[in-house]
Amino acid sequence: MISDATLLTLAGEYGTPLYVYDGDMVVEHFRALSGLIPHPRLRIHYALKANYNPALLALLRDAGACLDAVSPGEVHLALKLGFAKERIIFTANNLTDAEFEEVCSLGVLINIGSLSRLSKTAKRYPGLSICLRFNPDVVDGDNAKTMTGGDLTKFGILMEDLPQVLDIVRAGKLKVVGLHEHTGSGLQHTESVFRSMQNLMKLATPENFPDLKFMDFGGGFKVPYRPDEARVDYVAMGSEIDRLFREFEARYGRELAICFEPGKYMVAECGHLLTRVNTIKKNRTRVIAGCDSGFPQLIRPMLYDAYHQIDNLSNPEGTPAVYDICGNICETGDRFAEQRSMPEVREGDVLAIRNGGAYCFSMGGIYNMRAMPPEVVIASGEAKLVRPRVSNAELADRLLAECGMA
Ligand SMILES: Cc1ncc(COP(=O)(O)O)c(C=O)c1O
Repeated sequence: MISDATLLTLAGEYGTPLYVYDGDMVVEHFRALSGLIPHPRLRIHYALKANYNPALLALLRDAGACLDAVSPGEVHLALKLGFAKERIIFTANNLTDAEFEEVCSLGVLINIGSLSRLSKTAKRYPGLSICLRFNPDVVDGDNAKTMTGGDLTKFGILMEDLPQVLDIVRAGKLKVVGLHEHTGSGLQHTESVFRSMQNLMKLATPENFPDLKFMDFGGGFKVPYRPDEARVDYVAMGSEIDRLFREFEARYGRELAICFEPGKYMVAECGHLLTRVNTIKKNRTRVIAGCDSGFPQLIRPMLYDAYHQIDNLSNPEGTPAVYDICGNICETGDRFAEQRSMPEVREGDVLAIRNGGAYCFSMGGIYNMRAMPPEVVIASGEAKLVRPRVSNAELADRLLAECGMA
């Protein structure tokens, strides 16, 4: 764990806003999960959409992680970083023909999630090895927008469409080497993991899919965001996963690999967004602590009403008071926390927004023309600035150059 004193020092050294990631902890989480699911053919495909910082990816590459990529850009990044193509599964949705072609030509396994794309693949690439994504028909996740099973989602092929799937696969002589499902992000009930697994495993008979090499049960491993939130018993969950999968292998009649695609579990708790308060303002019933970051740099509270723990690193023993913690963006919804009780916040204090490692930088943008913060990664105990600060003038120059107006 990076200490708060270290975070404060880094904020002083590199300025704020600043992301700090504990790379050693990311690797520990990867190793921990590998140990928690005690199956000999377990493969962890880190979902790099959660955080694609190249220095973190390099640490995971060296630790032996595989990847779940969701866009051609992510695939290129992974290959350029030296991940072997065999260690990547590409799970895109609503892909253009050109994008399919691009990833196919790179030799990366494509996970297909619609009958339309499956038919096009059978016609254009007969005999291709593919993975198939099914909708697990289990609805779970930490927010309606991150639930990817059931009727209200665009993801995956419906299980009742299996007969059409098999017709297309056979006509195109496609080789289905993997079946996949992803139920949602931040799964609230471990039971959902087991039900989704069972639903997918029901489809995986040797008659339907004789060429299977692996089953992929997606990501969604929940981590606590609130201080009083219980940690999932991953030991119990891992051994149940192992038991269910061994039973399935016995039914299928052959040993297969079992894959998971954790994002949040790997990186959420390893990251902190540090921001400095510059304005304290009383607005009748509310006290607003205005800081030098904003929702484009950590959008989850605004997008999902997500709770992120915020600690006042500069005044941890201050008398508690209630604040709206707001950013510097021209939107009323630009709020990291509403009516949050915390130690007194003063102008100049540095706040740490916790669980800033997953879906924060990677979902970021430069709305209001504010550059994304620099990133520090701690590896082998040493802090390194891996992405420097972009000045306001540089940001403007970059835009003008991109538009050929520099
Ligand atoms: C296909 C797929 N796999 C894995 C993940 C990772 O989810 P999480 O970060 O909750 O583990 C996602 C994210 O929603 C996803 O869409």
